[in-house]
Amino acid sequence: MPAELACFEERCRARFPITEVIYNCPRCGGLLEAVYPDPMEPAVQLKKRWRERRMSNTPLDQSGVWRYREFISFLGDDHRVVTLREGNTPLLDAPRAAQYAGLDSLTFKHQGFNPTGSFKDNGMTCGVAQALRLGMTRVACVSTGNTSASMAAYASAAGLQPIIFIPHGNISYGKLAQALEYGARTLQVEANFDQILALVRQLAEKLGIYLLNSINPFRIEGQKTIMVELMDQRDWNVPDWVVLPGGNLGNISAFGKALREMKEIGLISKLPRLAVIQAEGSAPFYDLMHSADRSQLHPVEHPETLATAIKIGDPVSWPKALHEVSTAKGVVEKVSEQEIADAKAVIGQCGIGCEPASAATLAGVRKLVAAGTVSADSDIIAVLTGNVLKDPDYIFKYHTGVLEGPQATKIRPNFGNAPTVVPNDATAIALLLSS
Ligand code: F0G
Repeated sequence: MPAELACFEERCRARFPITEVIYNCPRCGGLLEAVYPDPMEPAVQLKKRWRERRMSNTPLDQSGVWRYREFISFLGDDHRVVTLREGNTPLLDAPRAAQYAGLDSLTFKHQGFNPTGSFKDNGMTCGVAQALRLGMTRVACVSTGNTSASMAAYASAAGLQPIIFIPHGNISYGKLAQALEYGARTLQVEANFDQILALVRQLAEKLGIYLLNSINPFRIEGQKTIMVELMDQRDWNVPDWVVLPGGNLGNISAFGKALREMKEIGLISKLPRLAVIQAEGSAPFYDLMHSADRSQLHPVEHPETLATAIKIGDPVSWPKALHEVSTAKGVVEKVSEQEIADAKAVIGQCGIGCEPASAATLAGVRKLVAAGTVSADSDIIAVLTGNVLKDPDYIFKYHTGVLEGPQATKIRPNFGNAPTVVPNDATAIALLLSS
């Protein structure tokens, strides 16, 4: 039997053919997910095969997504897959960041090592593969920058036309530049992410364009492999915690689904706890998880944060995120602009670096350690979602002390490293460097 689409809502669970072009359940409006009726091979066999593929030179085996194709087998036939060798991202120990957070040790899984510099590539190779299978010629997304950069690259590589919608003035130049360079038709809309998503959904239906936002269940399948690769890299030893930033909440949905499914088939023996970190001015999921009534998320109408990647007030995947965080005995924390900026500079001082949204992880862990939720000796993986070069403007402003948060609040360069202007004079420079 082939894979199917299933409604995520417990009370509905309606099923649809995997090739139906739908983004929500036609019966109840719920979110959709891919489900696989066939039992997979025994876990030991899968582990062995996946490890052996690391020695292979074939493109699919070299992809850190398609290497695990038995775990995301929605295609049936993978001959049209386009891979840019996504995934394959490292685990990096960061003692300096651990010390900053009050931990004995801390490891980052750095998704910024992906071809377009963010975790979106893991999902996009799958979303684009599904678009090709459906015979689509145009794909679209609204984005805070990384999804659009990724979609532009993968769509162009696959010969599809990428059309991206971005909030005007609210994405970093690094990301916008990528979309232009990869040949996306780029529309800057005078509205915020949430408003543009509603617009794009209408347009996609009207014009027959395939929608590649994270509401697309095939992108979620691809992002599952971030957790599979993590466990593979750790020889299937489950950490105590996995920490990640939350925006539209697609990634937490993918991580939770992957972990549950890995446990179901015996790839791992237990679930790690999950911690989602949001920016204070853009934290509707934090509010939901800290309210007595979790039946409805209350959107933040005017989300604010310099971490523009997670500047989202009405995250579409919240029902999935709620389920995954609850199942994994997870927590949701929020952090200030100052905390994000300082944590980011500390990650930089480790020689690692990341974009602002990613640094919310370290800032959040530090808070959770201080609160006693995470113990100092925890085995903890923080997922850095985007590359340091995604937002150089932010970096320069922080280090030179001119970074301002929402409502013109000054961000202090507590770990600042401003450049020094010197004359073209060896003696003067030598004197400077001798102190
Ligand atoms: N980190 C980065 C660097 C991101 O780009 C995003 C989302 C997130 C974290 C949050 O992930 O939405 O799955 O909870 N960026 C999207 C975009 C929304 O359009 O690029 P999420």
